[in-house]
Amino acid sequence: MERLRRGIATPVAVLACAVLVMIPQVLSVRYIVGSGMGGWNTNVNYTIWAQDKHFYNGDWLFFVYDRNQMNVLEVNKTDYENCISDHPLHNWTTGAGRDVVPLNVTRQYYFLSGKGFCFSGMKVAVLVENPPPPPAASPVKDGAPTLNLEGHIVIPAVFAIAAVWNSFFRFW
Ligand SMILES: *[C@@H]1O[C@H](CO)[C@@H](O)[C@H](O)[C@H]1NC(C)=O
Ligand SMILES: *[C@@H]1O[C@H](CO)[C@@H](O)[C@H](O)[C@H]1NC(C)=O
Ligand SMILES: *[C@@H]1O[C@H](CO)[C@@H](O)[C@H](O)[C@H]1NC(C)=O
Ligand SMILES: *[C@@H]1O[C@H](CO)[C@@H](O)[C@H](O)[C@H]1NC(C)=O
Repeated sequence: MERLRRGIATPVAVLACAVLVMIPQVLSVRYIVGSGMGGWNTNVNYTIWAQDKHFYNGDWLFFVYDRNQMNVLEVNKTDYENCISDHPLHNWTTGAGRDVVPLNVTRQYYFLSGKGFCFSGMKVAVLVENPPPPPAASPVKDGAPTLNLEGHIVIPAVFAIAAVWNSFFRFW
């Protein structure tokens, strides 16, 4: 009886840890800004790019652009609206033309390119929200991104259960 209980407890603990560790990693999404529309560039409507997306705390923005011309500056709302780049809240430009921005606070973020490009539309605003509750507890919403994320969660979880199941049977 003692042997039996220990044999079950171990795989259950492993499963619990696997699920806890997996969910935050799976939920983080790295968005290429302007993906499929020209990246971080002029003549891209970033309102349209962002409108079908949900940005969650822990996601990332990836700006890919011509490093010799543009840059990535985080500004406040007023400066975003008026394309003022003189006193950014944060300069995310590294010089490689590939800048990663962690969206790690739930708030509105505003980005623009200095050097005059903001006036040609190089500005993007994203609202960062708290991640939704785990899929089992949340009703299925319409819209492809949510379904997509849930698909990613379900599949590794099934593999994890299968792996634990295997180790469970090896105990006997
Ligand atoms: C971007 O698209 C939105 C929605 O169609 C529109 O309201 C807005 O005027 C456009 N912005 C620019 C700069 O063209
Ligand atoms: C943005 O920053 C500018 C300059 O520091 C300031 O004048 C303005 O009031 C700020 N706007 C907001 C909404 O914080
Ligand atoms: C932003 O940082 C980069 C890299 O350090 C630097 O070359 C650039 O001059 C800075 N731009 C602004 C507007 O502060
Ligand atoms: C968010 O990320 C930035 C850049 O890595 C870091 O400086 C900041 O401390 C982070 N904020 C929180 C609340 O984790």
